Amino acid sequence: MLTLLTSMYMVVRAISPQAEPIRVVVTGAAGQIAYSLLFSIAKGDVFGKDQPIILILLDIPPMLPVLDGVVMELQDCALPLLREVIPTDKVEVGFKDIDAAILVGSMPRKEGMERKDLLKANVAIFKTQGQALDKYAKKTVKVLVVGNPANTNCLIASKSAPSIPKENFSCLTRLDHNRACSQVAMRCGVSSDKVKNVIIWGNHSSTQYPDVHHAKVNVSGSEVSAYDAVKNDAWLRGDFISTVQLRGAAVIKARKLSSAMSAAKAICDHMRDIWFGTKEGEFISMGVYAAGNSYGIPEDLIYSFPIQIKNKTWKVVDGLPINDFSRAKMDATAAELVEERDTAMDFLSQ
Ligand code: NAD
Ligand code: LMR
Repeated sequence: MLTLLTSMYMVVRAISPQAEPIRVVVTGAAGQIAYSLLFSIAKGDVFGKDQPIILILLDIPPMLPVLDGVVMELQDCALPLLREVIPTDKVEVGFKDIDAAILVGSMPRKEGMERKDLLKANVAIFKTQGQALDKYAKKTVKVLVVGNPANTNCLIASKSAPSIPKENFSCLTRLDHNRACSQVAMRCGVSSDKVKNVIIWGNHSSTQYPDVHHAKVNVSGSEVSAYDAVKNDAWLRGDFISTVQLRGAAVIKARKLSSAMSAAKAICDHMRDIWFGTKEGEFISMGVYAAGNSYGIPEDLIYSFPIQIKNKTWKVVDGLPINDFSRAKMDATAAELVEERDTAMDFLSQ
């Protein structure tokens, strides 16, 4: 009987059709973040080890020769899940029927440059891409915006794609989240997976608020609050916060290029959590549409909150107690986002 069942199972397995490939677009695909990212996506680290993928690589016309090189390298990786790689400089090709969009392409900030200087150019890019998403993508598409200023670019893309639910758009603050976890872990002498439930509030900028009031650290098998584990409140309220806030600028200063390897890792973490959900009892940080009903944050911003995800649907973890120290920092980063949004909306209407 067992032999019969085993052979039936093997026949069924052999004739079962494989999952349909999903279509994933990465913009800025000739750039440095994409170079660290595409391999992980194509080998199944993000959408699952059984999920075939069609990768669409979008960049601007002068970068098409570089994209050809990226295509060759992806082919040379001989990855079984990678069914097709489509390089393009056309949004109508790039966004056609896509299931997931990772919008990296924009102009990276150079040393000494203010992020707001980039706003105008990026409003134009994210308006065009939002409109293309609206027209060509699946309505279920999940859109992750990485290109800076990520929160406001995400808002512009979403506003330009009114037929796609706002909830399908998010921006990357997972890199800041990972930075915060790592800083606490190094301070406590534990590995970074022993730290959970840090929060990045607000903007992916130097006004972001990395908050560990609700974070837990697993020290020698028992879970304690981050404040008890670190045992240095002055550091947690001072250098820890500024280190995380200014980490992007510090990397640029050192590398003369913005973070790429760590950004790619964070993109994978973010999108994998959207696809498969967050761990039970844990939350992560991502920039999502603020509807005006969480933590007194004004509506119509993309603001980073503590988030849990289930069935590809996120929810803000509400009800965490907020002290005066945190309140002031959460409001300051919200105020910057309001100003960024208002400037961007002026550019959008021009
Ligand atoms: P990069 O300059 O190496 O690559 C950017 C690529 O985008 C280039 O190939 C460029 O041609 C392309 N591009 C520009 N306009 C485009 C358009 N309209 N459509 C498609 N492609 C376009 O930059 P990078 O280091 O890969 O960084 C990309 C962006 O990510 C920057 O804005 C950077 O500031 C941002 N970033 C965000 C985070 C975050 O945590 N949110 C972290 C690191 C970097
Ligand atoms: C980062 O956080 O590393 C980047 O967003 C920095 C930047 O401005 O590109």
